[in-house]
Amino acid sequence: MGTYLITGATGGIGAAVAELLSGRGHDLILVARSPDRLDRLASSLRTGSHAATQVIMTTPDGPAAVPGTGSVAGTGGAGGAGGAVAGAGGTAVRASIRTAPLDLNEPRRLEAALAVDGLPERLDGVVHAAGMVRLSPVAELEADEWIDHLNVNLVSAAELTRLLLPSLRLAKGHVVFVNSTAGLRANPEWAAYAASKFGLRALADSLRAEEPELRVTTVYPGRTATEMQQRVRAQEGQPYAADDFAAPATVARVLVAAIETPRDAVVSDVTVRPA
Ligand SMILES: NC(=O)c1ccc[n+]([C@@H]2O[C@H](COP(=O)([O-])OP(=O)(O)OC[C@H]3O[C@@H](n4cnc5c(N)ncnc54)[C@H](OP(=O)(O)O)[C@@H]3O)[C@@H](O)[C@H]2O)c1
Repeated sequence: MGTYLITGATGGIGAAVAELLSGRGHDLILVARSPDRLDRLASSLRTGSHAATQVIMTTPDGPAAVPGTGSVAGTGGAGGAGGAVAGAGGTAVRASIRTAPLDLNEPRRLEAALAVDGLPERLDGVVHAAGMVRLSPVAELEADEWIDHLNVNLVSAAELTRLLLPSLRLAKGHVVFVNSTAGLRANPEWAAYAASKFGLRALADSLRAEEPELRVTTVYPGRTATEMQQRVRAQEGQPYAADDFAAPATVARVLVAAIETPRDAVVSDVTVRPA
């Protein structure tokens, strides 16, 4: 089992990724701003109320996943970890779920903030799923709007990746950037968001070339049924109907399939549009 850090973990796509990775028994570090939402997500993942959980049985031959064995409870709060309970035929080991409340609008503070709980020695993957968007024509986009989009969507992803590189290198880990079809084509009123996502693609492509031992994937979702999309539709003055968009669980399945691709190949870029 591996250890994965997920930013935007409380969002639609991030939570769906967390649910899938947790269901496979991986240890997780969940990052977002709101400590309350993080704690609620961590609890639901630990208790299995988010999805069917797995308990990992350690046997003399090594770990074996036993799906559908019910819920497990862990400790709460930042740095909380699952424990272990005895079970027939072996020891059931709970995956550890930690939370790390961080504001990605403050990339200069990330290093100190991460140092508080300590970085994991080995990290099998980082999923950069945090993001924000506020639509505006260029004529009305003030500097602070540009800075917010670039900080949250790009600079913090770069800074987090930099800080986590030693742990990722040890595990020959996977870095996944959740981009957007707006990172392939910039439409009117999307300049700041699209610029941040075009930049995110540059970050991914340079990282892939610089770190051949790592696996780097960019996922480009089209419109997906999450709170972000609800806010976008409100800004566009359009009604929101979840069925019009891809489900976050579908985007998460594509993303996790990229992570689980055998090591003889890498999914470098994948676009997931609503059907
Ligand atoms: N939904 C779509 O249609 C769509 C389409 C293409 C691409 N995407 C991309 O997919 C990713 C996930 O989006 P989503 O739709 O799942 O959005 P969402 O439901 O709005 O979730 C956004 C996540 O980012 C976190 N976040 C926002 N600002 C943050 C900050 N300053 N510091 C730390 N965390 C912050 C939020 O948590 P807190 O608020 O607690 O901080 C939340 O966990 C984003 O990168 C987005 O650009 C979405």
